[in-house]
Amino acid sequence: MNEPLLSVQDLQVNLHDGRALVRGLDFELRAGETLALIGESGSGKSMTALALMGLLPEAARASGRLALAGEDLLGLDEAALCKLRGRRIALVPQEPLSALNPLQRVLQQVMLPLRLHGMSDGAEARARALLARVGLPESRWQAWPHELSGGQRQRVLIAQALACGPALLIADEPSSALDQDSQQQVLDLLAELGREQGLALLLISHDLGLVARRADRLLVMYGGRIVEQGPAAALLAAPAHPYTQALLAARPGLATRGQVLPAIPGSVPAAGQWPQGCPFAGRCAQVDQHCADELPPRRPLADGRSADCWRLDA
Ligand SMILES: Nc1ncnc2c1ncn2[C@@H]1O[C@H](COP(=O)(O)OP(=O)(O)O)[C@@H](O)[C@H]1O
Ligand SMILES: [Mg+2]
Repeated sequence: MNEPLLSVQDLQVNLHDGRALVRGLDFELRAGETLALIGESGSGKSMTALALMGLLPEAARASGRLALAGEDLLGLDEAALCKLRGRRIALVPQEPLSALNPLQRVLQQVMLPLRLHGMSDGAEARARALLARVGLPESRWQAWPHELSGGQRQRVLIAQALACGPALLIADEPSSALDQDSQQQVLDLLAELGREQGLALLLISHDLGLVARRADRLLVMYGGRIVEQGPAAALLAAPAHPYTQALLAARPGLATRGQVLPAIPGSVPAAGQWPQGCPFAGRCAQVDQHCADELPPRRPLADGRSADCWRLDA
């Protein structure tokens, strides 16, 4: 097996006041592999993405070990991070409109990362090829961002993220602002590009139904922790953690028109308000006293899966 491109060990993200947003994440991602990071809003998905990019907000700090092709990312200074960002790791952000410069035409914006990284030679030809590849009609290449639809803006951001040929692409809720059809198209495009270019792709979403079939492996996150992980097909066929089971039952992709979705009762606790035991204890239908008191250990399951749940012993 080839070495993982990205290796994350015991990643913690803490606010300066001590509140924990991400609490001990471990995962690996290989070139050519698509990993989906899934969980409800407030689980710590974006904080994980920002930690990988070295773009955490002022109030937060990452610790643990993040290695890209063996290089320790958390040890890098801002100058070194700038060289890496957009070049070896790129992010397709959650907010397509605010991520684009309203005063610059589309083609110029796709060329920008190439200029920033001293790759100006042939930049325009490369930007044109990328815009064609992501499916933006040529008549739109000189448009301003406000003249594009949401789906088109998302395509521009994908072209921009790919400009310098990154090895790792992180897409944080890449289509959450779009309608269902455009969402599917954007995700299909990302999955195709990932395969085509041998990218390590980290797809982040709150919607398990939307991303699961496009991923090789799934990481289910709740309360700043991975509660279950494994190959996508095996995990979907037999989810082990009550949280994964609840997410699957609530996934909008399965609902037919007019059907009421069985939402997961309760809400995600605010940062730093996790129970001392299993993060899901407060909402879990199968909870017992043990769950609230003590953090469940990671249980290895068949097919390279694992889940952190006391009930697996029952
Ligand atoms: N700038 C910030 N300062 C303090 N807390 C934050 C900040 N941004 C997000 N949080 C908190 O961190 C937790 C995780 O947020 P986030 O990573 O954005 O979750 P997700 O992307 O899974 O929805 C949430 O409780 C959120 O309120
Ligand atoms: Mg988020």
